[in-house]
Amino acid sequence: MSETLRVAVIGAGRMGADHIQRLSKRIHGADVAAVVDVDLGRAQAAIEGVPGAVALADAEEALNNGDVNAVLIATPGFLHEDILLKALGKDIPILCEKPLTPDAESAWKIVEAEVALGHKRIQVGFMRRFDAEYATLGSIIRNQELGELLMLHHQHRNPGTPPGFTNEMLINDSVVHEFDAIRFFTGEEITSVQVRLGKATRNAPTGQHDPQHVLIETESGVLADVEIYVNAKFGYEVATQASFEDGIVSIGGDRGAYIRSNGHWGGNVTAGFEERFGAAYDVEIQSWVDAALKGEIGGPSAWDGYATAACCEAGVEAQKNGEKVAVKLNAKPGLYE
Ligand SMILES: NC(=O)c1ccc[n+]([C@@H]2O[C@H](COP(=O)([O-])OP(=O)(O)OC[C@H]3O[C@@H](n4cnc5c(N)ncnc54)[C@H](O)[C@@H]3O)[C@@H](O)[C@H]2O)c1
Repeated sequence: MSETLRVAVIGAGRMGADHIQRLSKRIHGADVAAVVDVDLGRAQAAIEGVPGAVALADAEEALNNGDVNAVLIATPGFLHEDILLKALGKDIPILCEKPLTPDAESAWKIVEAEVALGHKRIQVGFMRRFDAEYATLGSIIRNQELGELLMLHHQHRNPGTPPGFTNEMLINDSVVHEFDAIRFFTGEEITSVQVRLGKATRNAPTGQHDPQHVLIETESGVLADVEIYVNAKFGYEVATQASFEDGIVSIGGDRGAYIRSNGHWGGNVTAGFEERFGAAYDVEIQSWVDAALKGEIGGPSAWDGYATAACCEAGVEAQKNGEKVAVKLNAKPGLYE
């Protein structure tokens, strides 16, 4: 591998544009070589101030460009499979924004293609693993500093949803992060998912039942619950409280100064995921680049992408039938042990 990743960023929307800025301004060992968007004007706008980058409208053209030796995929999830298979065919480092693919069957095809290649090339963009507080809670659990982990309580609250955000997307786009976080914290697979639909807010668009209560169980019997509430209006909050044999740990929530003045106390509510996880995205992408330059991956793998896709499938079924739905997983290939 060369000393610098020459990255093609596929998709210059909200996440892609953010990653382009990150790669060109803050990340060491990588440059943006190409930006691809079906909306060529968007690709051209995204390379402004990014020296040496070309704007293209076709992902395959970027992958065939001799100046490109890595790819960051930030198109909508249903387009990931095709680009992933082509990039695996080139045997180059891949950072794929979550989800790996939108369903377990297509995600398994990606796992099989990587296993056939014989080494890991795909890192999936579950950035919470790189957040300082998530890392701290993860190490408290692994080191058994407070005894055994017993329960996890997650809150995932957004101010609102963009047009077209469906009921299934509460699971596939939002709770998917919680599935990965729970797998990361416990080091276990999730065995079942149940979704309970209670009293709903009048602020949800037609077709969305909001909030939802998602009940999750892991291999050793750790119980986790997620309040997913995506039209919460007040602002953004992603927080977890963990109950141990010998203590309680809380992470997430708002940050910043706690101010008392003029008879009031308080601070600012976090606006959104960019504000909450901006630093984690930087650590995530740097970890990918550092590992890729050594021929490795520096974070969650295609197996993690597949396993969370299987959890989402169980979650969407559970949304519909209210039952406790078992998560069905194929045997884990040795490549990911
Ligand atoms: N990790 C996170 O916290 C996080 C947050 C938001 C989104 N995401 C993920 O990032 C990905 C992108 O989401 P987004 O919010 O940036 O979406 P977006 O809609 O803002 O951007 C997607 C871009 O892809 C372009 N595009 C569509 N088809 C294309 C094609 N065939 N070739 C090239 N470009 C194409 C669109 O024109 C658009 O500019 C999704 O997988 C999403 O789930 C991750």
